[in-house]
Amino acid sequence: MKTTYQIFVETMVPQNQLIISRTDLCGNITYANETFADISGYNADELVGRPHSIVRHPDMPKSIFKEIWETLHKEQIWRGYVKNLRKDGGYYWVYAEISGVYKDDKLVEYKSMRSPVENDIKIEMQNKYDEMKRIEEGIARVVVYLGVDNIAKIQKLSLDEKIPEDEVINNILSDTLF
Ligand SMILES: Cc1cc2nc3c(=O)[nH]c(=O)nc-3n(C[C@H](O)[C@H](O)[C@H](O)COP(=O)(O)O)c2cc1C
Repeated sequence: MKTTYQIFVETMVPQNQLIISRTDLCGNITYANETFADISGYNADELVGRPHSIVRHPDMPKSIFKEIWETLHKEQIWRGYVKNLRKDGGYYWVYAEISGVYKDDKLVEYKSMRSPVENDIKIEMQNKYDEMKRIEEGIARVVVYLGVDNIAKIQKLSLDEKIPEDEVINNILSDTLF
């Protein structure tokens, strides 16, 4: 069995700013604020008109999105933790509140407001979603968190030795484990 290692860099959501988007009733983005654009690594005009799944992260269990849409179809508010994918392949965690936008009492759009997530909750949710994906979709993976110091060391080794970062990690693990 061949195991591969990849590095994914987390983008931190600033404490004092909300990530806001709106979609039509099918989930296509109709509005994205500047913070959403910055955090996701897109320009706002690249986001508008695209399905919201543009930021869907492969670590997110399918059943969470099923739950979101079932909640919205009942005209209720969904609140929960979402790991999203950036344009550059990195990720960011948000606590999202998704709900309907009404005009003259008629549901016309959906909106989502998101705020930052504490570190220990991110780890708890990553473990929970990994377990859900394993049970529901038969997908298993191991997530190892590296602090910024270790990432910097790996990047330096990669530059010095002129080999990709995942190969550096592979070499270190091979030396350590075997
Ligand atoms: C207002 C609103 C905001 C949403 N925000 C996100 C989001 O931040 N990340 C995400 O992956 N899906 C989000 N979704 C759900 C997506 O529409 C979609 O169901 C999900 O990405 C799964 O994609 P799929 O149904 O194509 O598998 C949002 C939906 C709505 C209505």
